[in-house]
Amino acid sequence: MTRHTPQSTTPKNVQITARQPIFEFKETPAIWLSDPIKTHFMNALSVLIPFSEKTVNEIMRKNIELFHEAKLKKEIQTLIKQEGAHARMHRETNKILAGTGYTGILFFEKIQIRLMSLLRKVSTDVFELAMPAAFEHFTAAISRDFLSHEFYWTNNKENTAIEFSRWHALEELEHQAVCYDAFNSVYNNKYRLPMYLALIWLPVFVISTFTIQLYFLHKDRIVYQPKYWLAYLRFMGRCIKLFSKGIFSYSKVSFSPWSPQDETLYQKSLERFRKH
Ligand SMILES: [Fe+2]
Ligand SMILES: [Fe+2]
Repeated sequence: MTRHTPQSTTPKNVQITARQPIFEFKETPAIWLSDPIKTHFMNALSVLIPFSEKTVNEIMRKNIELFHEAKLKKEIQTLIKQEGAHARMHRETNKILAGTGYTGILFFEKIQIRLMSLLRKVSTDVFELAMPAAFEHFTAAISRDFLSHEFYWTNNKENTAIEFSRWHALEELEHQAVCYDAFNSVYNNKYRLPMYLALIWLPVFVISTFTIQLYFLHKDRIVYQPKYWLAYLRFMGRCIKLFSKGIFSYSKVSFSPWSPQDETLYQKSLERFRKH
């Protein structure tokens, strides 16, 4: 293993901050986004988030001594706090969902814990450290899309779950470079991450989120109604495009997780977040 100079690529005007907002979900409607397809996709993500974010935190904590740059180390510590808060809140929303009849969530949680624990047992060090960077690829992609296409997702609805998603999306965008920088500072290999993403994590992520989404859509009998079929297929196609976008950019020498558009979107979303 060759050690290279660690380097945080998070822009100077992005201050990674562990916010602790309080959300009250009592009045949240069952279909809290513009339609059941998008709502249940976000619900499916929520099911996977607590254990995924716990795994990210465990891996970053375990490897903390490998990161030498003070700025990057500080960002990792704040990321751990952010992910801890996200996981706690998603555990709460998952409990609410399970309490409203979606008890299959408990089964999916168990499967995820078993499979991911097994995978970590057989992982090499490099594969394990690439895992948080791979997860962040997906959370950053969804967050960027949610914040920049709010009308597509919400159809101008307002409720606590939407506000909660804005908070999570903002912090995911904010720390999007951290796990990538951490991985890169240790391994500095431009090909491993795109390879893991394309061959393993993209199929795993797509299959797991779409399976859980399908469970929700089955419970609500949405999937049996032909009027939703075209929208459902379109949504799946849009998601696959979104998740796979940029995977091969990681192999470019000039690659940086932050684009100028990301910075603009971040500042705009931060401003909006401050207002609430
Ligand atoms: Fe998160
Ligand atoms: Fe994250």
